[in-house]
Amino acid sequence: MSVAPAGAKNLLPYEKRRTFAIISHPDAGKTTLTEKLLLGGGAIRAAGQVRARGERRRARSDWMKIEQERGISVSSSVMTFERNDIIFNLLDTPGHEDFSEDTYRTLTAVDAAIMVIDAAKGIESQTRKLFEVCRLRDIPIITFVNKIDREGRHPLEILDEIQEALALDVTPMSWPVGMGSDFFGVYDHIGNRYFTSTEGRGGPLDTIKPVEGLEDPELIGELFDNIRDDLEENVELGGAGYSEFDKDSFLEGHLTPVFFGSALRDYGIDQVLDFIADYAPPPHAQPATGGRTITPEEGKVTGFVFKVQANMDPKHRDRIAFVRLCSGTFKRGMKLKHVRAGKPITVSAPIFFFAEEREIAETAFPGDVIGVPNHGQLRVGDTLSEGEEIHVTGLPAFAPEILRRVRLTDTMRVKQMRRGLEDLAEEGLVQIFKPSIGTNWIVGVVGVLQLDVVVDRLKQEYQTEIGFEPVMYNTARWAEADDRQKLDKFLETNRAHVALDRDDKPVYLFKNAWEVTYVGEKNPDIRFRETREIVYTAD
Ligand code: G4P
Repeated sequence: MSVAPAGAKNLLPYEKRRTFAIISHPDAGKTTLTEKLLLGGGAIRAAGQVRARGERRRARSDWMKIEQERGISVSSSVMTFERNDIIFNLLDTPGHEDFSEDTYRTLTAVDAAIMVIDAAKGIESQTRKLFEVCRLRDIPIITFVNKIDREGRHPLEILDEIQEALALDVTPMSWPVGMGSDFFGVYDHIGNRYFTSTEGRGGPLDTIKPVEGLEDPELIGELFDNIRDDLEENVELGGAGYSEFDKDSFLEGHLTPVFFGSALRDYGIDQVLDFIADYAPPPHAQPATGGRTITPEEGKVTGFVFKVQANMDPKHRDRIAFVRLCSGTFKRGMKLKHVRAGKPITVSAPIFFFAEEREIAETAFPGDVIGVPNHGQLRVGDTLSEGEEIHVTGLPAFAPEILRRVRLTDTMRVKQMRRGLEDLAEEGLVQIFKPSIGTNWIVGVVGVLQLDVVVDRLKQEYQTEIGFEPVMYNTARWAEADDRQKLDKFLETNRAHVALDRDDKPVYLFKNAWEVTYVGEKNPDIRFRETREIVYTAD
């Protein structure tokens, strides 16, 4: 594999952008890989900084001051770095305790994703969920099989699992040379290189040897017989048993290149960065209302909000809206139209996010993410344009997997509670459903820990104590029909099951998966959707 194309210098600014995310199950090594990618891209100078980021709040730029004054924490939502003339925008997908819709939505703002798999564990539940979101949007996936310096599954078994469990073609891009206690390094059979350590087995990567195939003494000289035989067999079976790399198939999301590596010991990092530079797509065209497709080469600026982060200081209502630019050249101070509100906003203090610091963004291009401080006007799904009446589409709301009825301790605080829940819904932390019968709202989340966060934030920021009660439902679907009358009739007959979401779209609450199928079959004219576009149009 070559390094970044020699012509990168001559590319247009947007063509140099690679906006991507890392998806994984907790503990697979996302943080470690993120850190090593930032190191590889020269964005940080020492390991340990990503993990320690919370403690390092230094006033490094104008923005850092704003962040401190307003108490907004944006931590590492976006990390930008440059390497060989390519600009990498790595968007963080919170995947642990704070796993929420936010995680899913971030994936609407990327053009590619790295899927990290633990070599011992294979595909795990959260990886699969996130992968499905990528597939919905045909996002190309690069697979990184991590922790090969530990005992793991056999490489062929892992490749087969990815292929079968995710119904993807796979192309091995490298092979581990031994694993676990006999880990010697990584063989790049495409670029004819052997990555290894002078420290011997299990050491950190410090040597790259050019080799001429598997017979090269530089490669096999030091290996035990069993490891050499296994490597030979892998390369041979791998070459015959899996697809050859095909760029189009990768870009369409049908094929994933698989790199074996160890984030902890630096194996596979440069290969992945080179691959992203060479093959991952520049900013994609963005579907929009009115049959429009916004292309990055268009002259006028458009962008959409995919995430809103609230102030950590309850005394302020300031927020940061994360805007992914889709077209045009953005300049600081521009007046853009906030399409949903029909009002102009002047973006005077837009922010760029680097690994260690924030900077006021003077100019930004498609693929870039800018942070726009605001007082709560901007919400997830909103479009900003240079005057065009257009809404970016394709940002889904997801059916929640956990539903609870809200119980208010002090009934005098209904107003505060509702405002709080609406605010948190705008951030994408919860979904709210207002039942047709009864007054207590129901909240929906995709991760159970989000419920604790809701209780805590309502108490801290809205001085309102709430609790949750179980409901007999365990999932919700948005109800739609081509025939408005049929839909209204259905909703009226089933009032006990119906609620309105925060945009007053009807949802049907189901007790279980069986009921989803049953009610669906009984009502063929009604569509029960697991996702809903969050486009704020007048209707
Ligand atoms: P996450 O963000 O996906 O949750 O994973 P994270 O990077 O925090 O890694 C989880 C654990 O796996 C960490 O160990 C980390 O050091 C380890 N790890 C990550 N990549 C590799 C690898 O390539 N090889 C090996 N052997 N271990 C790896 P920990 O003990 O939980 O944390 P720490 O004490 O090392 O910080």
